[in-house]
Amino acid sequence: MLTRICISVFVLLTLNSYAQDSKNSSENIENQIDAIISQMSPKEKVGQTCQITLDVLLARDSSGALIEPAQIDPKKLQIALVDYGVGSVLNVGWHTLRLEDWDHIMEMVHQPFESNKTFAPIIYGIDAIHGINYTVGATLFPQEIGLAATWNPKLAMEFGEITAYETRASGIHWNFSPVLDIARQPLWSRTFETLGEDAYLASTMGKAIICGYQGDGSISPTHVIACMKHFVGYSAPESGRDRTPAWITDKQMNEIYFPTFKTAVEQGALSVMINSGIVNGVPGHINHHLLTEVLKEEWGFEGFAVSDWEDFIMLHTIHKVAPDMKTAITMAINAGVDMSMVPNAPDYKTYCKLMLEAVEDGSIPQDRLDDAVRRILRVKFRAGLFEKNQNQLKKYPNFGSQEFKNKAEQAALESITLLKNDSNILPLSPTKKVLISGPTSDNLIFLNGAWTHTWQGDNPTFNTEGCLSVKEAFQERLGKDNCLFSQGAKLFVENGFETSALTDTADFKKKAEQSDYIILCLGEFPSTEKPGDIKSLNLPQAQIDLAKIAYRTGKPVVLILLEGRPRIIRPIVEQANGIIQGYLPGDYGANALVKLVYGDENFSGKLPYTYPKYDGVLEFYDHPRSVDRSKGPEFDAYDPQWDFGFGLNYSEIEYSDLKLDQTEISDNDSIMVSITIKNMGEMDAKEIVQMYISDHYASLTPAGKQLKAFTKTALDSGETKVINFVVSEEDLRFYDNHGEWISESGTFSIKIGGLEKTFELKK
Ligand code: BGC
Repeated sequence: MLTRICISVFVLLTLNSYAQDSKNSSENIENQIDAIISQMSPKEKVGQTCQITLDVLLARDSSGALIEPAQIDPKKLQIALVDYGVGSVLNVGWHTLRLEDWDHIMEMVHQPFESNKTFAPIIYGIDAIHGINYTVGATLFPQEIGLAATWNPKLAMEFGEITAYETRASGIHWNFSPVLDIARQPLWSRTFETLGEDAYLASTMGKAIICGYQGDGSISPTHVIACMKHFVGYSAPESGRDRTPAWITDKQMNEIYFPTFKTAVEQGALSVMINSGIVNGVPGHINHHLLTEVLKEEWGFEGFAVSDWEDFIMLHTIHKVAPDMKTAITMAINAGVDMSMVPNAPDYKTYCKLMLEAVEDGSIPQDRLDDAVRRILRVKFRAGLFEKNQNQLKKYPNFGSQEFKNKAEQAALESITLLKNDSNILPLSPTKKVLISGPTSDNLIFLNGAWTHTWQGDNPTFNTEGCLSVKEAFQERLGKDNCLFSQGAKLFVENGFETSALTDTADFKKKAEQSDYIILCLGEFPSTEKPGDIKSLNLPQAQIDLAKIAYRTGKPVVLILLEGRPRIIRPIVEQANGIIQGYLPGDYGANALVKLVYGDENFSGKLPYTYPKYDGVLEFYDHPRSVDRSKGPEFDAYDPQWDFGFGLNYSEIEYSDLKLDQTEISDNDSIMVSITIKNMGEMDAKEIVQMYISDHYASLTPAGKQLKAFTKTALDSGETKVINFVVSEEDLRFYDNHGEWISESGTFSIKIGGLEKTFELKK
């Protein structure tokens, strides 16, 4: 014991002196880590790899209920953080906390390190996925799918910066975001957490978000550690159910699912969370090839890998690859997972005990343990966590500021996508009377979705004060006399699954008669993960019925979709006069909708996914041409409701003069592409110019077209701009059957805004 105390004092003195030097070089950091690791006992090292949920530390009353506001129980803290040496805490009790509650929690969890009782500080993680959604008064942006629909990387970066700032204001250094999974299974309950179906769009937007979170990588007091989620293939469950098996070929893995993560590693993302599901028969958490060989060795990822919720345990209890817990832990750590989100008690104690046994009997090599601890400490250093007294008392005056809220509203404005506008029904005339209706019209929860104040985001008690539902925003604009309301149908959960029912349809019809337009808000009940599993992609029936009742009134109907995934609405598309995809636009989504519907602002969002028309036919925009045989409808499988990249606005944008500076390139060569766009409309607009490339012939069936570049640009009424892109030989490569990225000689088309030009690659 004496030796232990002396060693601790020595190391802590060393740490303090190091901490004073804020410009530690990475070499310096590695030396410091060496010093710490050399002094740590195996038990302390094991503790560093253990992550517990905040509930474990919270005080409860005599009935076992959590005390409100959240209080840390010092005894529980002592056992977990000091006796077991746990290295990380995550989450929120069960709902949004005030800044002062976070302040108390952070002061307590950092206290063991502050008072020299532990070698290393805690790293605290949270799912601040569309803003720091667990802090009262924070700025809530659209969910990631909406950010993707803006096609505006600058805005995505600003979202990242604001979220990082407000997360740090809450005393938290680590954000479990962004989700970099590619949305190729629209049934999946977490589609809204993704950046859409395309690897290029998602990589570009994901990189921008990480840039916002981490800044230049030095993680200043306004930045956080990003966490790439969920490596890899989680978003493609064959059954559509969360955490069920995916089958992904090597080619798909490399061309579709890897690029977002690889780009994020290149951007310097410092942590990764592992796919809870199974790919090609291998649970994500034991996939040594993906975690160690690809991510760490080939791509050079220097941060650490955290498991997802209880996933070590699930290797034994659910996936059945480990006959007992010790084997499960051994398999996961040896595969390359560095930290286990255990996260409950007493499971974390069992974890620490069994992992220690596995280290002592050699099942987990000492080197592997040291590597895991090294990675965790490296990130803690990078986050500035070793600097004592550095965060709690810092002031963040811009937390929840008007400037931040305006940015969230701008993101909503730029994401919301106009899908149909027959006879220019929109913008609506402000002097006409409107009926607002539909199950998603009268509560803020439908604008935010899950991960908002609570995990499922379905409890309106915690809604942000002062933020408006669609009904409230329209009533604020028009006055209650000119904006009637009748819900018409409701959404609820029955036996664990979403369901819907018509409500007072007589009231609906009566008020429709009194109105000039009907705005019908449809969509989904907030949910995610397993609770968000659905049995069909069809929109719950009562909503279809309500739309048909609305059409029978003869009044013009505008549908507003507030949904986490693209639900099938084919039976009600034709008769709708207008259709708006709102996604989950966040706390300021309703304000944005009003501005767009009345033409104060122009639409500029475009779909980040293919909107399916049929439940049984799910295709993506980059399908091979074998899908479109052009021999009549019975041969055309690709028949989506709307294409990837589609979105209307109030101005006609004319595309002309597609030019290539040369029509032939060779290896290491590139072509300059230019296109002229003109805003023919009366309203100023923002246009997303998308460049696609088609390979005419290749030795492996090529994609019909692939997005290779895009830019979003402001275009005033009457304005003309020339947009330039560069196409290089690298853009023409595909992943072959021998594990190589290759390009082949041949003809390629460049397609922009309905125009097309060809060029040759000569190798
Ligand atoms: C989710 C993760 C999340 C974690 C912590 C898990 O259930 O899959 O995305 O980061 O919980 O809340």
